[in-house]
Amino acid sequence: MLSIILAAGKGTRMNSNIPKVLHKVNGKPMIQKVLENTSHFGETLLVLGHKKEEIISTFPNNKYIYQEKQLGTGHAVLISKDEIAKHDDVLICYGDGPLLSKETISNMRDKFDKENLDSIMLTCMVDNPTGYGRIIKENDNVVDIVEEKEATDTQKEIKEINVGVYLFKTKALLSVLDKLDNNNSKGEYYLTDIIKLLNNNNLKTKSILLKDKNEMIGVNSKKELAIASNILRLKKLDELMDNGVIIIDPNNTYIEDDVIIGKDTVIYPNTIIQGKTKIGENCIIYSSRIEESTIANNVKIDNSLIEFSNIENLVTIGPYAHLRKGTNLKEKVHIGNFVEIKNSTLHKNVKSGHLTYIGDSEIGSNTNIGAGTITCNYDGKNKHKTIIDEECFIGSNTILIAPVKVGKNVLTAAGSVITKDVEDNKLAFGRAKQVVINKK
Ligand code: UD1
Ligand code: CA
Repeated sequence: MLSIILAAGKGTRMNSNIPKVLHKVNGKPMIQKVLENTSHFGETLLVLGHKKEEIISTFPNNKYIYQEKQLGTGHAVLISKDEIAKHDDVLICYGDGPLLSKETISNMRDKFDKENLDSIMLTCMVDNPTGYGRIIKENDNVVDIVEEKEATDTQKEIKEINVGVYLFKTKALLSVLDKLDNNNSKGEYYLTDIIKLLNNNNLKTKSILLKDKNEMIGVNSKKELAIASNILRLKKLDELMDNGVIIIDPNNTYIEDDVIIGKDTVIYPNTIIQGKTKIGENCIIYSSRIEESTIANNVKIDNSLIEFSNIENLVTIGPYAHLRKGTNLKEKVHIGNFVEIKNSTLHKNVKSGHLTYIGDSEIGSNTNIGAGTITCNYDGKNKHKTIIDEECFIGSNTILIAPVKVGKNVLTAAGSVITKDVEDNKLAFGRAKQVVINKK
């Protein structure tokens, strides 16, 4: 089966410079959600037009066809004719329907196969059908779809609408595709007219009703984007809670689709967890943002920002810590208030409680980093490494001018500027001696 996703349109109603299908729902571009579903059933062809380069650079490996002028959903399928002809059947859906589920496509496919149908489409009963194509039926067959703009007042009352997902036998579709025209109020080639053309040729279209009405939402505006995003967000939170995660307030928690969280981890409100973050069991997270990171078990994170980092068991972080790309915290590390770490590994039991910057560093186990310690890793041109071995006590307000190496069990005096390497077991001073004189 070939799947075609139509995504060439301008998306005028979005009022945006970003192509409509690249707008994110719960953290993922809409079209990616659709692609993840269709690719489960075989090859997918994207129909691209408006700002196609931006979409291609986001999904460089996907097959696409270029619809230079967006003359309508029917036209988008017409230009895909040669690709369609290579397959026995074809699923067509829209790139702005990100809530459609794999199960729904499977259900369609099952009925299509079981009843050996030529054509099947997805419909939904809604209270307010405004804007959607209305379904016209005779004896359980769909005989036409009437678009909002073409609908008579009586047809506008119809509550069964076109979701915009169709499955055709290639033979049936190709037998009528060329007959599509643009004689309608928008002057567009409507894909929806295919149903009437099939019916005229005695080829029947069956419909299947959506079980979960949320899936029918097509995103045409920023308001609908927020609605779709929120539905996906709540669905993800439900899944997590079913898997044993404790979410204190689902109305104020933002967790993206690909995040994995273990049992009995507690997520407090105002937490944002993004990308392919993985969090283990029994962690506690208070109002933090975590992106693309791996966090093991029994970790406590309080009001902090963690990006592209790797955190092992029993680590405590925060409040107000910033862990940037390439931070590795081994077991039982403690990071406290206003500490920033970047591209550094802190081994077991390292403690850095207050007001510190650690960049491009490696710090051995059991070392204590005093308040106000700074690694000066940047000389204006290049970045340099700071290496501090195990069991050290780095006095408060120590400045380490990288590249610099501090041996095992070293003590640096508070306020020192360390410019040269220090051997094991030494005490290093790097500050002016205190002078006391009489006041004038
Ligand atoms: C369409 C359906 C309508 C259905 C609704 C469901 C038609 C004529 N109408 O209306 O029956 O209820 O979806 O959400 O199909 N596109 C192209 N090339 C084009 C025009 C559009 O690729 O020339 C793409 C758009 O990028 C979009 C999708 O097709 O992703 C649907 O187009 P849109 O204009 O949003 O259709 P609707 O008016 O929502
Ligand atoms: Ca739409």
